[in-house]
Amino acid sequence: MPAPWRFVLSYKPVIEETTPETAMLMPRDAVLQMSPYHPPTGGRRSKLRLDFNENTVGAPPHVIDFIKRFLTAADLSIYPEYEHALEDLSQHFNVALDELTLTNGTDEAIQLLMNTYVNASDEVIVLRPTYAMYKFYAQLAGASLREIDYRAERLAFPLEELLDAVSPSTRAVLISNPNNPTGTGTDMAGIEQILRKANNAAVLVDEAYYEFSGVTVLPLLAEHPNLFVSRTFSKTYGMAAMRCGCLFSQAANMQHVRKAQSPYSVNALAAMAARIAVQDRTFVEEYVLEVLTARELLYVELERLGIPYFESQANFVLFQAGERAIDIRDELRNRGVLVRDRSYELPGCLRVTVGTRDQIRRFLDALEQIW
Ligand SMILES: Cc1ncc(COP(=O)(O)O)c(C=O)c1O
Repeated sequence: MPAPWRFVLSYKPVIEETTPETAMLMPRDAVLQMSPYHPPTGGRRSKLRLDFNENTVGAPPHVIDFIKRFLTAADLSIYPEYEHALEDLSQHFNVALDELTLTNGTDEAIQLLMNTYVNASDEVIVLRPTYAMYKFYAQLAGASLREIDYRAERLAFPLEELLDAVSPSTRAVLISNPNNPTGTGTDMAGIEQILRKANNAAVLVDEAYYEFSGVTVLPLLAEHPNLFVSRTFSKTYGMAAMRCGCLFSQAANMQHVRKAQSPYSVNALAAMAARIAVQDRTFVEEYVLEVLTARELLYVELERLGIPYFESQANFVLFQAGERAIDIRDELRNRGVLVRDRSYELPGCLRVTVGTRDQIRRFLDALEQIW
């Protein structure tokens, strides 16, 4: 008698054959017009992963320890309950309970913003180059996309250009501060100018790399009814696989956003892990310090090798690999080190995630061999 799960694994549903006349289903126009987005997530485990801006030392030991020791069968068998996580996280971030919603990563925060505020054909402003999921969800919503370029020379934040582009018909502005992949950012005053000008738009400030830059507009929430801030547990907190983030805004906005959210979009394990993660700040503080030190080491060594780079406020650095960029990425991969190609949007550029000093030394050794 096979075990029940064997039966499930070998069960094949009977699929009715389609008649030859069945027409192929057409998706929505918005989906037809999108290009597929498939980041290179396969085969990374055995390599030095400096390609996705993750925490390169793994999840916090106290989170793993807690899950191993205290996870119960009921924790997984009942639908998730978020009360305790919301209480702990609102305290941690110093916001009211109704100014925060838990999200399935920042990605769900972006999607919620679109679903709540943007109708098809509405104008959405994003910067270029930036985190791919802004354009992804704007296009999926059928929005009319306006892209503003980072300044050519130093990839500085194009504040004046962005302010010029905002009009009364702008419904959303999506900003990554600091920005991925440029590493550059803007200050609070710049964001406030945008919030005032885009007073008819939901302005999302994605602070995925806040812990490295130290710049946050979260304290401005009470003053700006159009401000939305997102944070994630995917980067500094080392829990990208959990898919957990937070979206903040004034309570009146959060009411609408929560209406647009599926009731169980964040899994119970992720909510539990986020609660535990914020109980101990040491892990994050030590990791950030290590990364900032390693980033200085990286700058010094890139200069020694004569490789131009862009100064970054985050845990990654863009550098100029020139015409051989793709070959260099591949050669590094052959030596067990993963970096990310960005040459399709910034000619000749590769992006390397900054991990520990040892990891950056390993990257530099490999780079020097092939340079
Ligand atoms: C600017 C920015 N926001 C958000 C994310 C992803 O966040 P999450 O894993 O929370 O969806 C990334 C990941 O690369 C990012 O660069």
